[in-house]
Amino acid sequence: MCGIIGYVGKENAVPIIVDGLKKLEYRGYDSAGVAIYKDDGFDVVKQKGRLSALEQRLAQKPLVGNMGIGHTRWATHGEPSDVNSHPHVGSKNKIAVVHNGIIENYKHLKERLEHWGVNFASQTDSEVIAQLAEHYYSGDLMDAVVKVSNAVEGSYALGVMCVDEPDTLIAIKKDNPLIIGVAKHGHFIASDVPAVLKHTDKVCYLNDKEIAVLKEGSVKFFDIDGEPLEKQVETVTWTMDDAEKGGYPHFMLKEIMEQPKVLRDTIQSVLKSGNNKNVIDTLDISRFNKIVITACGSAYNAGVVARYVFEQLCRMSVEVELASEFRYKNAIIDEKTLVILVSQSGETADTIAAMREAKSKNATTLSIVNVVGSTIAKEANFCLFTAAGPEIAVATTKAFSSQLALLYILSIRFAVKLGKISQVEEQKYLLEISQLPDKISSILKRIDSIQMYASECVGYKSIFFIGRNIDYAIALEGSLKLKEISYIHSEAYAGGELKHGTISLVEENTLVVALSNCERLYGKIMSNAEQVISRGAKVLLIGNCPEAKETDKLFHIGLPQGSELFSPSLSVIVLQLFSYYVAANKGLDIDKPRNLAKSVTVE
Ligand code: F6R
Repeated sequence: MCGIIGYVGKENAVPIIVDGLKKLEYRGYDSAGVAIYKDDGFDVVKQKGRLSALEQRLAQKPLVGNMGIGHTRWATHGEPSDVNSHPHVGSKNKIAVVHNGIIENYKHLKERLEHWGVNFASQTDSEVIAQLAEHYYSGDLMDAVVKVSNAVEGSYALGVMCVDEPDTLIAIKKDNPLIIGVAKHGHFIASDVPAVLKHTDKVCYLNDKEIAVLKEGSVKFFDIDGEPLEKQVETVTWTMDDAEKGGYPHFMLKEIMEQPKVLRDTIQSVLKSGNNKNVIDTLDISRFNKIVITACGSAYNAGVVARYVFEQLCRMSVEVELASEFRYKNAIIDEKTLVILVSQSGETADTIAAMREAKSKNATTLSIVNVVGSTIAKEANFCLFTAAGPEIAVATTKAFSSQLALLYILSIRFAVKLGKISQVEEQKYLLEISQLPDKISSILKRIDSIQMYASECVGYKSIFFIGRNIDYAIALEGSLKLKEISYIHSEAYAGGELKHGTISLVEENTLVVALSNCERLYGKIMSNAEQVISRGAKVLLIGNCPEAKETDKLFHIGLPQGSELFSPSLSVIVLQLFSYYVAANKGLDIDKPRNLAKSVTVE
């Protein structure tokens, strides 16, 4: 978590950094700060709270300079406070640092530095980096950064400046993302591409322990031994519009509305030549006797949906594991296992660890990732890219939908290769997938009725989600979406489990959201609905249920017809909009829910 940015060039660094931080705020937002190089030291302004609080401070105390670093924080070590905010400057006022990551051996390093007489100002692990860099500095900033990198354990993306090197900004990373932006007027470091898009679409992705030395007119790369490196400058396909709200009140709503296009792009990416098609064509599923899907949060939920589809089409058993559990369970996998990692950011710490665990056991790893150049995209044996574009809202919507689309197509292709479905069936399924964007558009046209219903639901203390089979899988996502942005307690259950305990929680004024797209199970889910209604609950029924009769206790949002296998892509649109409007009616900060950050790069 945390977002970092740095600039050195011809322009005033301050507005560039503040603007970049706005694009990175999704990574953490409990405090922010900037440090600007000036002749005799650094001008530093740090402020607890949202970026707007920092902007107010900067309005009172304007800074100017051609080189600087900035940070937006998601606290791990040390509470959110002005002093714990970044940038951190060493006690000799010589070196300023922004850090994204966690320094695991910081206590030990801090004790050593204190023993040598260094006074620490903050409770953070990150300050150790600034103090240590000052300790090692003897006229060569890059040398000091290398020594710091060798001394610290943990994860880091760093931007470092030194008062004695007025034109030099140094960056290094390990296990956290860092890109270098190359523009005519100067050069950038940033945690993510949207932070620099306004200025350039030319970027380099740093690999672990690679060092970038940025000056106004040059960027040079080195390995950790100081050997020069040639790095490829890549052109980003994302545009500025992708990174702006485009007239919507929140990124989340914009991203929900983008889903027809994003799905079309993602589906196309597999059908026409390019990386995704190559990967799917190349993968020989008959080599494997087991598939494990592992991920976190919503990406895990996409895996749970996919298990139903893979098992149904490929007749092959699939395990779905939370990456945080998988990494520590000594999983029974080997060279005959295909481990699929699903991650929007490609930087989720647990998913990275799960991938490395899988590789260490000789499993083949296939990732489904949105962010090009991310760790998981680079390290997995194979990678499929979702064409979702930048997802800024913390709650995922369009990336989730594109993960589903890729997982569906993957399972169809695997099923053909395994001889489990015919080519005629393959075409039938692919046709249905290609119709999903239009079906989603038709749901989005009914946004008003979903908004109206959701606006009546703000008062619920608890909302349950139920479904059976694949509807249960998407109920998990509906529940997660609601709780993370509306702060309403919510749980998802398999319909059949209700009677095994949960129904005791159902009382007057409980809302139960029932998903029903499995025609063969319609009677069963409706009998669950009856059971909760007779105990005082109200039911929101979402699905393709032509027989459903609305009452004052049951409200039905109908979905377009289609195979149950791909119905989660339709249900989820209603679930996202429902959560969005409940949270909007509560006046909450939807794009940045409390305590969360988009990219969970720490354990
Ligand atoms: C929920 C949400 C999170 C992420 C999870 C994994 O809306 O966004 O649960 O799905 O943190 O993140 P990635 O996909 O980046 O690995």
